[in-house]
Amino acid sequence: MVSFLRDLICPACRRTFADRPARTFCQECGRTLVARYDLEQVKEKMTRDRLRARPPDLRRFEELLPIREARSQVSLGEMETPVLRVNDPELAPRGELWVKCDGSLPTGTFKARGMAIAVSKAKELGLQSLFVPTAGNAGAALAAYAARGSMKALVFMPQGAPESAQRQVEAYGGELRTVPGHIGDAARVGREEATRRRAFDVSTLREPWRAEGKKTMGLEIFWQMGREGMPSAIVYPTGGGTGLVGMHRAFTQLRELGWLDQVPRLYAAQSEGCAPVVEALRRGAEQVTPVKDPRTEAAGLRVPSPFSSEDILGAVRATRGGGVAVKETAIAPAARRFMAAHGISVARETGTALAGLRQLREEGAIDPQERVLVYNTGLWVG
Ligand SMILES: Cc1ncc(COP(=O)(O)O)c(C=O)c1O
Ligand SMILES: [Zn+2]
Repeated sequence: MVSFLRDLICPACRRTFADRPARTFCQECGRTLVARYDLEQVKEKMTRDRLRARPPDLRRFEELLPIREARSQVSLGEMETPVLRVNDPELAPRGELWVKCDGSLPTGTFKARGMAIAVSKAKELGLQSLFVPTAGNAGAALAAYAARGSMKALVFMPQGAPESAQRQVEAYGGELRTVPGHIGDAARVGREEATRRRAFDVSTLREPWRAEGKKTMGLEIFWQMGREGMPSAIVYPTGGGTGLVGMHRAFTQLRELGWLDQVPRLYAAQSEGCAPVVEALRRGAEQVTPVKDPRTEAAGLRVPSPFSSEDILGAVRATRGGGVAVKETAIAPAARRFMAAHGISVARETGTALAGLRQLREEGAIDPQERVLVYNTGLWVG
């Protein structure tokens, strides 16, 4: 195992921290701590030939991931996921459309990426019990990885979270509680219980390692599409925002290593029923304003007040990307049409990104001849 992890830094006050003992977020600034790596060492040791010789899985870029000890790896065999080109004149009249499909990951969504790394790191740090409030999929992923790592998972979901996610948590032996309201309510109630039970909180962006796992989204896209073949824009269904933060970090590191010229523009797609990130981008705000009554059937996007939203907004702005809010009634039809046209299973969340892409083209934010990638975060459920 080779990791060139150096330390953690708060992006606001610039205080630095060692990676052990287990860290949450900067208590002064309320911001997610960002892992820093010794990029000079990475430059020297992480050669293309070495990468090519490794199995095509999540840990291929181990130098840029935070796990130091092989024996603390908690793995369910997270193989590289397909990136498929589709011919879709409606969505890409003259350009190219690519879809990165994470449905083949353990538990069926991209949440496996973050949890594989966060649970491995938790193992390395000697933690035994982990807590997450979730709209659904992160709970299933946590329960699976915790079982694999012989740890306990405490999962709080809003009532009305998808049945399938609830049943998965239980089947993997996780302890599930449901709470009236939204994910923020589940977090509030769950956190008290977690503190009492000494379960470490792996909520989105409140600890440093899930976002590091999500970096593999960007690293894989780069590895599969190549320097010359990279998309100029990526549309991403945004809830808690870790995917955007992770991809941005990956592309930035690749650019610092001299491997990538241009970071793709990142677009956050949300439902009009819950679009705090898109609203904040539109207003030019530093932080999101919490949505009072979040409503969307894309359960993973029902996040009214994402934590450390400065980082999410910062990632989008740094790439000169943007946001798009789509009508709730457009989401499922966009997913179904796409599935019927291409045979690719896409989550409702992805339906939001597909409908978003159409709108971004109509608005002129994305040109017809561009090479665009839609991130398909999971499988269709229903
Ligand atoms: C299928 C799916 N897509 C997208 C998201 C949003 O992810 P992020 O937290 O990276 O914004 C979620 C989160 O629950 C999800 O389950
Ligand atoms: Zn700070």
